[in-house]
Amino acid sequence: MIERVRGFRDSYPEDMLPRQKMFDVMRETATQFYFSQIEIPSLEYLDLYRVKSGEELLTQTFSFTDKGGRELTMIPEATPSVVRMLTSRKDLKKPVKWFCLPKLWRYEEPQSGRSREHTQFNADIFGDSSMFADAEIIGLACSTLDKLGLSGKYKVRINDRMLMEKILRDIGISNIARGYSLIDHYRKLSADDFKSQLLELCKESEKADFLLQLLGKEIKLDQLDTKFPEQFKRENEEIVSRLKNTGILVSKLTSAELVYDASVVRGLGYYTGIVFEGFDRAGEFRSIFGGGRYDNLGQLIADTPIEAVGFGMGDAVLELLLKKNNLWNLTTRAGSFAMCTVGNETIITAYELATKLRQLGYAVNVDTSQASLSNQLKKAAANSVNYTIIIGPKEIKDNVLTIRDMNSGTQVTGRMDDLEKLIESVSSKQI
Ligand code: HAM
Repeated sequence: MIERVRGFRDSYPEDMLPRQKMFDVMRETATQFYFSQIEIPSLEYLDLYRVKSGEELLTQTFSFTDKGGRELTMIPEATPSVVRMLTSRKDLKKPVKWFCLPKLWRYEEPQSGRSREHTQFNADIFGDSSMFADAEIIGLACSTLDKLGLSGKYKVRINDRMLMEKILRDIGISNIARGYSLIDHYRKLSADDFKSQLLELCKESEKADFLLQLLGKEIKLDQLDTKFPEQFKRENEEIVSRLKNTGILVSKLTSAELVYDASVVRGLGYYTGIVFEGFDRAGEFRSIFGGGRYDNLGQLIADTPIEAVGFGMGDAVLELLLKKNNLWNLTTRAGSFAMCTVGNETIITAYELATKLRQLGYAVNVDTSQASLSNQLKKAAANSVNYTIIIGPKEIKDNVLTIRDMNSGTQVTGRMDDLEKLIESVSSKQI
């Protein structure tokens, strides 16, 4: 037998229903925030990621040379493609709010919440450099989790790359990219390893203390000022107050907790302003979502400056979190029928009725198994259908049928020709 490829997932129907429901919630929430859906290709030129995604992501690509000698890759993230699409259209009125739900491929070490193929809910606002756009993007990510039932189960850690750059320079680090990369590994390194690598970068140990004191703490946004030395605070008042005000705006869009965390700088190379990551409160899983402001990527990819802020939310950690909170049980199909039949002749009538029901928008399964009625009913219950109809020779002879609401147990009997009225009547009897 040939096995499944390592790091890839199979999805059976019992997972597909909740998974589709999860994607529906993403689509619905984005639409409510006035975002429009786009679709991006699964293959891009590898060069697109050489621009600014960062070394780490480049080493994780599923890339190959095609028959025409072109270096291509399965897309490891959506952002460069979305920017490519945006900058190649000059006619779009800004701000543009787009979302997409692509599959992405990364050659990462498979582990809980991380696989080599995942679907990512990706949303971005282009052409708006304000903190309102930052707040709406975080608001959309959080509202999606809230709508999935996860309010209170997660928190958002935020930081600002400009502020971080100022801190790094303040402590004598001039190689900012190396500084970010080290901070990005803060939670993965031991305290001693981190400290020695930091000291190597900044040389003066007293100065490094300022950063070491900040890292590893979650600071309430309204207390952010108190954590910085007076002079640093004065020099960076604008960035700090923008972060604080963004927090106030986000609190009007979601009840999610937002904290300042100096260790959040993000691994991708293109961020220029606010950066943020969503985590489960228990601290059990990897990030649920991550994103930030990236105002330079349009210039780098297409010589077209465009302000941008966005996030990506993968399906893998979310699935683990929903399962942990017993929220992965969205198996009831809205408006579904199981038709139980008794003998071949009854199947013809069942098909006629099923066609009418499907035309009315219902999902219908006609049981043609010839199993006993009780077995057919058991199967219907196991499939979580909303209604069952039994079609036997007697029903056909008398031109009647009985619809049973599987939730409430109520049932109504009436003429087959009055199908619509019968459905109305059984659903109005619901408790
Ligand atoms: P990212 O942090 O690389 O950002 O990924 C965002 C989210 O995608 C993560 O928080 C996680 O939920 C999910 N994710 C990433 N890698 C994996 C994996 N191997 N398996 C499962 N899930 C994964 C980006 O991708 C940016 N392009 C987001 C963005 C959009 N920034 C601005 N706009």
